[in-house]
Amino acid sequence: MADIKNIVTLGVGIMGQGIAQVALMAGYNVTLVDVNDELVNKAYSAIEGGIKKSEEKGKLGEGITTSDIMKRCKKSTDLASAVKDIDMVIEAVIEKMEIKKQVCKITMDNGPSHIIFASNTSTMSITEIGKDCGAPERVCGMHFFNPVVLMACIEVIKGDSTSEETFNIAMDVAKSLPVLRGRRYIAPVLKDRPGFIVNRLNAPVQIYLNYVFDYAKENNIPWERIDADAGGKMPMGPCQLIDFTGIDTMVHIGNYYAETLSPNFKPGKVVQEMVESGNLGAKTGKGFYDWSQGRDGIKAKVKAAEPAGIFDLENSLAIMLNEGCRILEEGIATGFKIIDDANMAGMNSPGPFGAGKNNYEKWSGLLEELADKTGKEYFRPCALMKSGGFVKMRK
Ligand SMILES: NC(=O)c1ccc[n+]([C@@H]2O[C@H](COP(=O)([O-])OP(=O)(O)OC[C@H]3O[C@@H](n4cnc5c(N)ncnc54)[C@H](O)[C@@H]3O)[C@@H](O)[C@H]2O)c1
Repeated sequence: MADIKNIVTLGVGIMGQGIAQVALMAGYNVTLVDVNDELVNKAYSAIEGGIKKSEEKGKLGEGITTSDIMKRCKKSTDLASAVKDIDMVIEAVIEKMEIKKQVCKITMDNGPSHIIFASNTSTMSITEIGKDCGAPERVCGMHFFNPVVLMACIEVIKGDSTSEETFNIAMDVAKSLPVLRGRRYIAPVLKDRPGFIVNRLNAPVQIYLNYVFDYAKENNIPWERIDADAGGKMPMGPCQLIDFTGIDTMVHIGNYYAETLSPNFKPGKVVQEMVESGNLGAKTGKGFYDWSQGRDGIKAKVKAAEPAGIFDLENSLAIMLNEGCRILEEGIATGFKIIDDANMAGMNSPGPFGAGKNNYEKWSGLLEELADKTGKEYFRPCALMKSGGFVKMRK
């Protein structure tokens, strides 16, 4: 198996900087590559600053300084020459298929014959990225979570053409990368399907949220009453949560899964109207709530509100269990422990199987009712959930 020593992190924005930082801290020689000097220099300083913080906390190890580590960090704006002596490229350029395919081909055309190209894409097919590069067996996915230095999960994805060797090397590299909170967790993703494991598991809850939001609007129910439904069972209610993540992000994700999984994911009226009017949530000061005065007033409003009895967290858990069972049915993961552990490591939130083992019969009933009530067929429980067959698929 190839010994990985030299890594290019390609595209050093938010994700690439984090990936480069942990790769440097793991001991690899890292070349930062982006489209111009300004971006590369900015990333270099940010990475140096991040490592310095670890040094100040005494986390770099005996006698190791930031400057020792930064001696292994190079900079480049020319991918073709940067990959000459490189063993692996970890790509975090913008989420555009034609650019990912282009940089993958440049890597394979100019790198050594063992070079591996790992993409950090959240939504694109690994198989498609590698299809025309000339060496699709050396292309795989390595999906990190933001912020890379603090989020424990990395999903390593096998494309349809990825070789066992490439997949195993990527797994080993992923395992070697430190994380500054908790322990690194690597989820092997055995099929190249939309959303991989963690994002896929959580995605269909949005179908439910769209239903809840649209129903509340049609019936003049204020948002704080919907959030009051979550009453203490979630760190924040669904309206606050979506304001926080960004309404545009929710719409973007909904459109993506509407194309790739089911038309039922199409964003609801409420969120589409908010995006059209430029109210994208906390970042623009307005979404479901007015954020201009901070969060305290919103919290107080929710606390004082009477629950509407519309949003039920148990439905969300049932939806996630159903999706987790689909992930098993499709052969994306071999066992439910991987799915639960990946969700904890990627979302800081427990997966659905722990509670699902004892509740799948009741939850299958809830999902049938939800499908009848909303007309969204995607909610119908899959065979593996209804039968409880997943209980035997732990590992
Ligand atoms: N931000 C997240 O939370 C997150 C999480 C997981 C995965 N991702 C994925 O990571 C990737 C990067 O996301 P980000 O949030 O870091 O984006 P970003 O916009 O912060 O960074 C992208 C960088 O890529 C550079 N770039 C664009 N074209 C390039 C090219 N041809 N060659 C070299 N560099 C190029 C840009 O100049 C920019 O610096 C995307 O595929 C995204 O889907 C993002």
